Amino acid sequence: MYQKTIIFLTILLTSLRSCSSSYPFDPKYYHSISPNAYYETSHLHGHITHNRHMKDRHAHAPRSSDRAFNVNSFGAKANGNDDSQAFMKAWEAACSSEGTVYIVVPENRAYTLKSVKFSGPCKSSLIVFKIYGKIEAWKNPSDYRERRFWIVFQTVDNLRVEGGGRIDGNGKIWWPKSCKINPELPCQEAPTAVTFVECNNLMVRNIRLENAQQMHMRVQNCENVKALNLMVTSPGDSPNTDGIHVTGTRNILIQDSIIRTGDDCISIVSGSENVRATGITCGPGHGISIGSLGAHNSEAYVSNVVVSKATLIGTTNGVRIKTWQGGHGMAKNIIFQDILMKNVTNPIIINQNYCDQTKACPEQKSAVQVSNVLYKNIHGTSSRPEAIKFECSKSIPCQGISLQNVELVDQITKQDVSKATCSNVKLKSSGRLSSLCT
Ligand SMILES: *[C@@H]1O[C@H](CO)[C@@H](O)[C@H](O)[C@H]1NC(C)=O
Repeated sequence: MYQKTIIFLTILLTSLRSCSSSYPFDPKYYHSISPNAYYETSHLHGHITHNRHMKDRHAHAPRSSDRAFNVNSFGAKANGNDDSQAFMKAWEAACSSEGTVYIVVPENRAYTLKSVKFSGPCKSSLIVFKIYGKIEAWKNPSDYRERRFWIVFQTVDNLRVEGGGRIDGNGKIWWPKSCKINPELPCQEAPTAVTFVECNNLMVRNIRLENAQQMHMRVQNCENVKALNLMVTSPGDSPNTDGIHVTGTRNILIQDSIIRTGDDCISIVSGSENVRATGITCGPGHGISIGSLGAHNSEAYVSNVVVSKATLIGTTNGVRIKTWQGGHGMAKNIIFQDILMKNVTNPIIINQNYCDQTKACPEQKSAVQVSNVLYKNIHGTSSRPEAIKFECSKSIPCQGISLQNVELVDQITKQDVSKATCSNVKLKSSGRLSSLCT
């Protein structure tokens, strides 16, 4: 009865919210998110705490009727040795149980994991991965099965990862081996800290992600995702440490998160649709990016992206769209709105000649088309006099680029930033503008 009431209220709130939502494209998608994935069980903490103490005393695997699976009960020691096997056993037990199940990583302890893959599909209707403590990455790179992954969740529907704990990739072991740091070394991938592949109805919230080996979190080919209240941190000079990378994903909301890393705070790449990022504080880092798209003459589609209520602090870019020459496809229906820039190097930038490689990129005829991009209510400071840069493709110019109330001043002089560079673009503009293409 109690649960039914909660589910009903959740559905009601969710529908109200999508009605009042300013999301300009298709608010309907909120309805398709299983309400089960979101209701808060207020008794949860008590239940888990009680359960944990019982487990610690008796130190046996939980009975099949138990719905909380504490990694300690499966042999996790949190003593610096590898706890992967214990985590895998806890996962398998949870994943093969029916109903709502919890995997519990207790607080005040640090667990060490080699690369692990938590796979579905699961019998459970909802898996809640409660990370109260800390999960640390195994320190020896040669023990990673695949160089590109550390923690992977694969084909798991109705998954929640939360708990206020920390996931630390121990990146300082990997960063010096990057060719971006030491150009003498071959360019090799380092693991993404947490990867979600084909996970529908996913929520990740109240988690700290730190010092990833490369990217912090990757959401790949998922549908209906919420990432809320995340704290993502790495040094500003750590290589390729994107905060949240979205690829091939539909209906994702990233909200109320602080992201300070050495690369893009959020990067949105091909196959992503209905992406909303709001309440993001970003910096240091490379800003919020759509792209890069169209590398190696590939086809790329990104559409319906809204970035709103963001604050960018000392980042190399603010809001950026970057595409390689030679690509195909399109990036369209994009809104950047209510954004505050603080000492950003390139606050507004579209770069269709993106070239992140040592060899020069030759001029090519094709490009990923960029169209319908609105920049609205963007204020703050630029660290350079040129605050706006639209470098569009000669053969496939940018279309439907609009600016409304975009006012940026120089960080030092506090003068209006008067310079914008524009190639192969026609702008529509209205409201107060500090800078226009001539
Ligand atoms: C502004 O940014 C520039 C370039 O990134 C940096 O050198 C400078 O110290 C920053 N100024 C402030 C006040 O943060």
